[in-house]
Amino acid sequence: MRAVIIYNSLTGTTEKAAFRIASELKALRVDAEPVAIDDVDESTVADVDLVIVGTWTDGIVVMGQKPAGRKKLRNLPSLAGRKAVVYCTYAVDPGRTLDKLVALVEEKGAEVIGGFALVRHDLAADVSEFVDRLTPALVD
Ligand SMILES: Cc1cc2nc3c(=O)[nH]c(=O)nc-3n(C[C@H](O)[C@H](O)[C@H](O)COP(=O)(O)O)c2cc1C
Repeated sequence: MRAVIIYNSLTGTTEKAAFRIASELKALRVDAEPVAIDDVDESTVADVDLVIVGTWTDGIVVMGQKPAGRKKLRNLPSLAGRKAVVYCTYAVDPGRTLDKLVALVEEKGAEVIGGFALVRHDLAADVSEFVDRLTPALVD
């Protein structure tokens, strides 16, 4: 199985999450590659079984939260026919960021099968739980 992890990161947390997710998926024999959103083109999502899309929570701490980088997310290549999973990282409260991210990725044509909000101060634990929940979907 091949997975690509597309991440949008400002200060490195969402990028770190992408690399941790990739390393945990590789341990499950999934060929997983993290790619920064600015480096994504059509070839990034060609021939992949799963697209994971991650970004950070942008808001006023506990109000107005939304996925950061919505313009870049909307400019992703078509994900029609692809299965996708989303994640957001946050500091205090992600609000409805995950739901909004699901909607954005669905707008690209993907079938979103799950999502997870990862708290930045406990990233390793949250990534492990995220990958554990993902595991049933990784069976070919
Ligand atoms: C401008 C800005 C707004 C943010 N707004 C929120 C917020 O509303 N709620 C929250 O929990 N975290 C918020 N954060 C924290 C980030 O979502 C969090 O630190 C995230 O993990 C950063 O990811 P990155 O290091 O990949 O950029 C905000 C950060 C920034 C820079």
